[in-house]
Amino acid sequence: MTESTGQTAIAHTNIALIKYWGKADSALNLPTTSSLSLTLNEYFTKTRVEEAAEDTLLINDLPQDSQRVHDFLNVLREEKGDFSPVKVISENKVPLSAGLASSASSFAALTAAVAKYNGWDLSLEELSRLARRGSGSATRSFFSGFAIWEKGSNDHDSFAHEFNVPDLPIALVVCKISGTVKKVSSSDGMRRAQTSPDYDQWVAESAKQLDEMKQALSQGDLDRVGQLAEANALAMHDLNLTATDRRFTYFNQNTMKVLEQVKVLREKGYLAYATMDAGPNVKIITNQEQAPAIKDFLVERFRKIQFDIATPGPGISYE
Ligand code: DP6
Repeated sequence: MTESTGQTAIAHTNIALIKYWGKADSALNLPTTSSLSLTLNEYFTKTRVEEAAEDTLLINDLPQDSQRVHDFLNVLREEKGDFSPVKVISENKVPLSAGLASSASSFAALTAAVAKYNGWDLSLEELSRLARRGSGSATRSFFSGFAIWEKGSNDHDSFAHEFNVPDLPIALVVCKISGTVKKVSSSDGMRRAQTSPDYDQWVAESAKQLDEMKQALSQGDLDRVGQLAEANALAMHDLNLTATDRRFTYFNQNTMKVLEQVKVLREKGYLAYATMDAGPNVKIITNQEQAPAIKDFLVERFRKIQFDIATPGPGISYE
């Protein structure tokens, strides 16, 4: 058999410091707020696209029947022109237990691989715009370091761009708390959070926090970066608790215990702030110098939780 022609792209995942948590248009994945993220070096998805008789998907060697990926390939066909069926082979180096959105790196890598495979010459911003239709957080995984997804107001102006800041020694201590809570998908979680009476207030506050975050990053003020990220994340999770449509929480007991220790770390003089996404795991924002000591402090107290240290990562690349 001759080797199939194909194209491989690698996208790293990202963690939002100012969150995307709500849709203005769920078919187009237009968000209610702009969001800001850090791309991470340690977690990524590598996706190869090859010619095939029909669209198929393989993730970590296992065949998958993902309607979401099939629909997304068809969105790309509608947007950029038809292409023959493809086999999508994806290697996910985002441990599910880390509670980091693997959909971000997956849809970014898939968009980039399909575009290059078809010889489409697209800017990173255009790739970001297209990836949005697969998963909102994927818009931000094309860029190294910090990225801002500008919410825009329609399908054409809602995409991310790089946010350039002077070298910042930011690091995350990722606490891999196992998920014992019932899983609520991001899309469902957002839909429900948007029924909170506090939702509009969160949207308004988020715009202010984004402005302040841009300033804090430009000034290299990591302490302020952490404060803002923690406030934004905690308020996001309050929306879940106050949803009028089936209120819920992603937190479990260990989430609460780790959050408590983040406060203790601060009292001890460490730079430590928490952020959480659609799961029980806590990511602690700190600097690269203090990250190992924070990790050791937590390892001592939580024997059953695993901890990783994550640092700023690169933008999209091809093989
Ligand atoms: C909490 O990008 O997974 O991680 O657009 O429905 O695929 P969909 O949602 P998704 O949501 C991520 C939500 C978050 C915050 C964030 O990454 O901004």
